[in-house]
Amino acid sequence: MRPVGGALGAEIGGIDASRAMAPGIADQIRAALDRHLVIFLRDQSVSLGQLKAFSTCFGELTRVPYVGGLADHPQIIAVLKEADEHNISTFGGTWHTDFSFLEHPPAASILFAEQVPAVGGDTLWANMYAAYEALSPGMQQTLAGLNAMHSGHVYGAARPPANSATSQSIRISRNNPEADVERAHPVVRVNPRTGRRALYVNPVYTTRFEDMTQHESRGLLGFLYAHCTRAEFTCRLQWAPGTIAVWDNRYSLHMAVNDYDGYRRLMYRTSTVGETPIGPAEASASSPGHG
Ligand SMILES: [Fe+2]
Repeated sequence: MRPVGGALGAEIGGIDASRAMAPGIADQIRAALDRHLVIFLRDQSVSLGQLKAFSTCFGELTRVPYVGGLADHPQIIAVLKEADEHNISTFGGTWHTDFSFLEHPPAASILFAEQVPAVGGDTLWANMYAAYEALSPGMQQTLAGLNAMHSGHVYGAARPPANSATSQSIRISRNNPEADVERAHPVVRVNPRTGRRALYVNPVYTTRFEDMTQHESRGLLGFLYAHCTRAEFTCRLQWAPGTIAVWDNRYSLHMAVNDYDGYRRLMYRTSTVGETPIGPAEASASSPGHG
């Protein structure tokens, strides 16, 4: 195992993701994911069935809304941008965490690179524990009592497709009023197993603070987005065909860099079932040791 950045990310060698994994090895990979938040495996050759089997090492697979799965493998989505698609935003091209507007956002996301540009099309991740821990005690305290609203508005009726043109090659269903429903999550998300705290807002799905207007929320949210994506909290993956990335979708953000017009990029993604995000208040209520 080789860490790829000071804040997060590690490359793991010696694993064949196409084969059933011994329980001890799977435990080690999960521990590496806990510690590094995103792990990379190189030179993998997996069928879609094997990708699903590998993904179950990280939890039960889940289907995400609004993005159509493959006909034969509904739990897998194809993330594709064709070579002839120019001047469009790429799917996942802004810092976000996958589907944070759900009651149970996915715990882990797994991405397998089938075809990638010779250069460009990298993915970046940011460590949201590190971002939280770098804030002043005063700001940490202020945020601890706040909830933020999240919605899937980019898939919703309130935002016309023309304003959010992504690749036509991804089967995204839009104009669904359900996607505009806002859901509150704590701004400081606590890992229930360790008690560690992380920031939990993102510029794609977070709309405002609970009980505040979008206008009132903009200043502080803008600061938090800029803060949590500072270069020192991030790592960057240069894909090659056969690279698999697994990330913890609860305590990190990611974005795909859209700098490869003229090249085809095809990835397959799975997600695992997550839990309801909890904040400091719920975390201390559920663990009597932390009064
Ligand atoms: Fe994503």
